Amino acid sequence: MNFEKLIRTVPGFPKEGILFRDITTLLKDGPAYKALIDELAESVKDEKIDVIVGPEARGFVIGAPLAYRLGVGFVPVRKPGKLPADVYEYSYELEYGSDCLQMHKDAIKPGMRVLIADDLLATGGTILACCKLVEQAGGEVAAIRFAFKITDVPQKPELERYNYQTLMTF
Ligand code: PRP
Repeated sequence: MNFEKLIRTVPGFPKEGILFRDITTLLKDGPAYKALIDELAESVKDEKIDVIVGPEARGFVIGAPLAYRLGVGFVPVRKPGKLPADVYEYSYELEYGSDCLQMHKDAIKPGMRVLIADDLLATGGTILACCKLVEQAGGEVAAIRFAFKITDVPQKPELERYNYQTLMTF
């Protein structure tokens, strides 16, 4: 399916000079959303995935239906202060300031093969933070899948260590 034409481009959001790629126009189209999840599921069929990890918030919209489709569990990675039990946390640098993500300590058992899923790859900061959390728990990042990537920001080279794919590129 030609998913690209279903992504809306909004110039000037959230600030001037940015071309925002809006996935909500694809998500509201039932057959397209289903086809997107089916294609992502097909791309990991040989990876023997035990569990899926997805970062708040748009990672939930990709990761949760993918987990349902594969018949495995879903683990949320969240912004600080949202998860109630003991957490691992990982802080990372942004262009201005820093960000932090957390995951429940008991969410992943050592040796589990984890698929990390998100809507978008930009710098890779979010997804690398997810990798660090999975690895802190003793899990193995077996694969990373995105709906799409944007190429107008530099990507963190560390991402090349992982098995990652995206369905679309802008
Ligand atoms: C967006 C997107 C990815 C991340 C990609 O999330 O959903 O998770 O940015 O950027 P990166 O590769 O440079 O880390 P955002 O932080 O905007 O949060 P949201 O999903 O809650 O909107």
